[in-house]
Amino acid sequence: MTTTTPTAGGPRISVRNVTRTFDLKGEEFVALDDVSLDVADNEFITVVGPSGCGKSTLMNILAGLDTPTSGEALVDGRPVTGPGPDRGVIFQQYALFPWLTVRKNVEFGLKTAGLSAKDRREKAEHFIEMVGLGEFADALPKMLSGGMKQRCAIARAYAVDPSILLMDEPFGALDALTRVKLQEQLLDTWSREKRTVMFITHDVDEAVFLANRVVVMAARPGRIYDVIDVELPGPRTEDLRLSPEFTELRNRVWSAVYHQTPGRRVDATHRAIAPSPTAVA
Ligand SMILES: Nc1ncnc2c1ncn2[C@@H]1O[C@H](COP(=O)(O)OP(=O)(O)O)[C@@H](O)[C@H]1O
Ligand SMILES: [Mg+2]
Repeated sequence: MTTTTPTAGGPRISVRNVTRTFDLKGEEFVALDDVSLDVADNEFITVVGPSGCGKSTLMNILAGLDTPTSGEALVDGRPVTGPGPDRGVIFQQYALFPWLTVRKNVEFGLKTAGLSAKDRREKAEHFIEMVGLGEFADALPKMLSGGMKQRCAIARAYAVDPSILLMDEPFGALDALTRVKLQEQLLDTWSREKRTVMFITHDVDEAVFLANRVVVMAARPGRIYDVIDVELPGPRTEDLRLSPEFTELRNRVWSAVYHQTPGRRVDATHRAIAPSPTAVA
């Protein structure tokens, strides 16, 4: 069961000429400047860019936690007016309740969904297994490593069954090895239970490895600098990172992030592509 039905064939997410300014000691600071972007159903896009280019601002607007100064953000053709069960949000800091076990954390969001205690438990069980935390279902968050906490947060977000996942540097606080493992696990999960995903990162390798499409942003003002399609042969495993195709894409994204031409911008609408079914094993 998903909570919303996408408008047939239309983008799940549409960002239309979104500008967000902040008042900084009486001066206007442009965090997002006329950003337009479409994301197709079940597409996995990553957003990468230097610190301060407006990535979190964009995500907060889509999550319904912030509002544009002008322009609009639409989900399934309807303006975003606040948070909703159609969008699951995962932040860098694992927002788990420290006094609840893994199981209770995952079940928590299901209480408002009106499920019986038995159904809640079964559903939580499924997603806890899915992220490989079966043995830790009764552990408290303080007994888990950072990677395990984030897996718990992912299980909790999935359990509520949002058809859109918004992830803001979810692996940003983890060590490199854990990060790589979680990237593979996330792709594996996504390939089995497809969702529309917007994944924010400042890690170029991560952006390329996960995405159907990489959206590169630039700062001052925050804008979309480039959009790079990632058509890599599946399955996406460790070996892929060593392939010439991956290296070439990573270099392209790297230079778009680190050698930016002042003033350049692109419109990322009408570029939404359906994910290739063979992209992930
Ligand atoms: N509530 C706010 N008030 C003032 N400035 C803000 C606020 N939120 C974000 N900004 C500014 O907007 C810019 C973009 O921020 P953010 O979206 O967090 O960037 P990113 O996530 O790409 O690092 C930053 O320069 C930040 O200082
Ligand atoms: Mg951020």
